[in-house]
Parts: sequence; structure tokens; C-alpha cells
Amino acid sequence: MTQLKDKIVLITGGAMGIGAATAKLLSEAGATVIVTDINAEAGQRIADAITDNNATAQFKLLDTTSEEQWSTLIDECISEYGGLDVLINNAGIFRAKPIESTSLADWHQVMDTNVDSVFLGLKHGVRAIKQRAQENQAGYGGSIVNVASISAQSGTPCALAYTASKAAVTHMTKSAAMEFCALGYNIRVNAVLPGMVQTPMLDTLIKEMARLGAFGIQDPEQLEQVAASMHPIGRFAEPLEIARGILFLASDDSSYMTGSELIIDGGYIAR
Ligand code: NAI
Repeated sequence: MTQLKDKIVLITGGAMGIGAATAKLLSEAGATVIVTDINAEAGQRIADAITDNNATAQFKLLDTTSEEQWSTLIDECISEYGGLDVLINNAGIFRAKPIESTSLADWHQVMDTNVDSVFLGLKHGVRAIKQRAQENQAGYGGSIVNVASISAQSGTPCALAYTASKAAVTHMTKSAAMEFCALGYNIRVNAVLPGMVQTPMLDTLIKEMARLGAFGIQDPEQLEQVAASMHPIGRFAEPLEIARGILFLASDDSSYMTGSELIIDGGYIAR
């Protein structure tokens, strides 16, 4: 695979789950991958696994909710790599709570991580991508991929903040796409909307939803089966199946796509 040959990619939340699978796949497609996360140990392991596989990666610590950290990291990307070609805004959290017991602090925690992070990624990331995209006016330029969710298009009990945050991400994707076209930046912005994916986040989600009886089921194993069957394909996704969609949006293969939503959900939304 060579779709991302000579491309510099930064991914947030790259230490596990979808982010880790994406970092590995994009490196196999030829990219130099800057793996970032708040979990330094796990993030470094992913960067090491990529370099052990004869590809190029570096781990950098980034709490995506910190504007100061974004600013510093993007300065480093410009001085070390001459900028970025691709940014994957993947870091996110899920918290299960009924509306009535959700505190304002709970609400802000989800919004900070899932919405503020994407805003900060767009704001600071574009500085680094613009630099390389404008040098490459003859080519297809840069790409930003925001990881949203089927929750952007469907309701979920006990997940008000999460669903609202993911709907915000798809709308931010559209507005950023319009703006960067209007400003002639040569940068595309698209979102991926995964169904439920077999990751550490999903393990926590199933346990929490069962504890709350959010779907009228309190046994985690039974809830897992029911949740899987809500996807017509009959199972959860593997992280690699989402990473493949992210690779498509990151690469020039999707050169005529911007402001759009790639749904990878085993048929969940189509029901
Ligand atoms: P995960 O929980 O398995 O991994 C998330 C990664 O993000 C972790 O490495 C974590 O340390 C990192 N992270 C969390 N907060 C951070 C912060 N403030 N700064 C930097 N890194 C941070 O999650 P998963 O499942 O891989 O999810 C990735 C993205 O995909 C999220 O945006 C999530 O909302 C979305 N998604 C996941 C689905 C699923 O079923 N697993 C379904 C639909 C969307």
C-alpha cells in the first residue's frame, strides 16, 4: 500500500482502539505517523510497534483538551516535519448517565473531550496542514478526518452528552469543510461515523449501560448480544474496519469528498 507515501499524519487518541489500528494502517500505507495520546506508555508501544514493522512513527504526548499543548505540538510538527498533510481527530470518551443525574461537570467532561478537542485540532492543525497543502496546489492537498459516531444520527438512552457531542462533530466537519474551500486552503474535512466497535471504550460502555439498565437489560453478556444484533451485519466492527475508512478519507482516493460523512456501521443507521 502506498496511498500515503511521503505524507505526515497526526492522530489523536492513537494509543488504543480505533486510533491504534488507524495509526498502524496509515503507516503501512507509507505515512510518517505522529501518534498522540494522554496515555504515554500505551502510545509509545504503538509507535514502537510501527517502527518495528519498518515504518515510521513517533509518539508525542497530547491532551487534546489543552490549547497550550496543541499549540506547542503543532509548532513542533512544523519545525520537525515542515507541517502536516493529515490530521485525524479521533480521541473521544463515552460516559453513561441518565439525564437527571448528569451533573454540569459530567456534561462538560464529555463536551471538552469530544467537541473542544476537535475545535482545537481544527484551529491549530490547520496551521500545519495549510503550510504543506499550499506548497502542493497542483495536488489534492491536505485532509482532516473527524471521528464521530452513529450517535450523531440516532438517539441513545443515558448518553445525552455523548450523542450531542458527536452530532456537533459532524456539523463542525461541514462548516470547516466549507470554510477551508472558501479560503482556498486546499484542505478537505470529512467525518467517519462508526457503529459499535470492539475497543476498550465499548467494553466500558456495555458494562455501564447494563449497570444502568439503559436498554432494560442488566446482564452485560446479554446486552452485548442485543447490541451486536442492532447492527444488521450481526456483530460489532473490528477497529481495522473503521481504520480502512479513515485511510480512504485521509488519502487522495477521496479527493472529491469534503464535508461528508462516511458511515461504517454494519447497517445500523439503515434499519
Ligand atoms: P478507546 O477508549 O478505546 O480509545 C480512546 C483513546 O483516546 C485512548 O487511547 C485514550 O487514552 C485517548 N484519549 C481519551 N481522552 C483523551 C484526551 N483528552 N487527549 C488525548 N487522548 C485521549 O476509544 P475508541 O473506541 O477507540 O474510540 C475512538 C473514537 O471513536 C472516539 O472518538 C469514539 O467516540 C469513537 N467511536 C467509538 C465507537 C466504539 O464503539 N468504540 C463507536 C463510534 C465512535
